[in-house]
Amino acid sequence: MNKKIVLLPGDGIGQEVIESAKTVLEALAEEYNHTFSYESHAIGGAAIDEYGTPLPDTTEKACHEADAVLLGAVGGPKWDQNPSHLRPEKGLLGIRKSLGLFANLRPIQGFNNLLHASPLKEEVVKGSDLLIVRELTGGLYFGTPSERRNNGQSAVDTLAYDRSEIERIVEKGFQAAQIRRKHLTSVDKANVLESSKLWREVVEEKKKDYPEVTVDHMLVDATAMKLITNPKYFDVIVTENMFGDILSDEASVLTGSLGMLPSASVRKDSFGLYEPVHGSAPDIAGEGIANPLAMILSAALMLRHSFHMENEARVIEAAVADALEQGYHTADLNIAGGQTVSTEKMTQLVVDFIKSDSTTNSIMSCYA
Ligand code: IPM
Ligand code: MN
Repeated sequence: MNKKIVLLPGDGIGQEVIESAKTVLEALAEEYNHTFSYESHAIGGAAIDEYGTPLPDTTEKACHEADAVLLGAVGGPKWDQNPSHLRPEKGLLGIRKSLGLFANLRPIQGFNNLLHASPLKEEVVKGSDLLIVRELTGGLYFGTPSERRNNGQSAVDTLAYDRSEIERIVEKGFQAAQIRRKHLTSVDKANVLESSKLWREVVEEKKKDYPEVTVDHMLVDATAMKLITNPKYFDVIVTENMFGDILSDEASVLTGSLGMLPSASVRKDSFGLYEPVHGSAPDIAGEGIANPLAMILSAALMLRHSFHMENEARVIEAAVADALEQGYHTADLNIAGGQTVSTEKMTQLVVDFIKSDSTTNSIMSCYA
């Protein structure tokens, strides 16, 4: 299959990990006779430096013409004092909105031999397998731009959702639950927020279409607690943009490291943008020690969701699991024993496992 992939490395370790994903995709393409072509474009801080804007038109156009997009990460201290329209994050928010990617899927599944790297007790975290379905193009992050008021003494952000925006993301949540363990937790703050009350109403309506799915409503604060006390309770969580942003970072540590978590940002067709949940980690950028696995696993999600290459996606996921099982890990993973390796070495190990016959489709996939 021929596929056109746009690479948006962005900032910090984004530059390094995107190279890892490309290396892995190339190995896979060779094994399975696919032809992937790549075009690299600037976004975020790198784009501000080069083009004076976090989302250049050329980048946006290339993404619209691609079969799928891989993104590294954006942001860094260099641009922290910039006015809001010149923040790297604006580039990321802008491309998600421009491409209509309203659903962000963040699967959280522990690799068995990383359980002891989790800050939670092994018996609490073992067996956790959840998917956060985060609304991605509405809510607070896309509110009416506010100016500082009262001589800079006050500021306003708005949280608005249309019924149709809620309906489409809630549907994604139900669809995901339907093919998993059929348990959907809708997270809101309906005891306070009007938008959450509307959210609940929509969930109540939609559940009639999915009689096999058990639905519960949970307040976001209670959810934050339950994720830590009993993560196994959850199957699919569906929630609005900011709650999903916060809860997914929280949930990520269940697996031992934020450096392990991939994500898919999708819409109703099969197009998508795939990026790790972690950020640009400017403190370790350029040192060659970043964990490339979240980015590599994001490429696997791209194969599954956008290219319908389920087998190839599983081969990557199995290769990652194999590398970890052999005791290899990058420095972010707090593991006693094993061998700490560089970004490049970790990538090579994944490539080797893809190429070797020992690769089996040994991990069950929760990423569907
Ligand atoms: C994420 C990031 C972004 C977000 C930022 C960089 C705008 O934190 O993908 O979770 O909040 O969506
Ligand atoms: Mn985030």
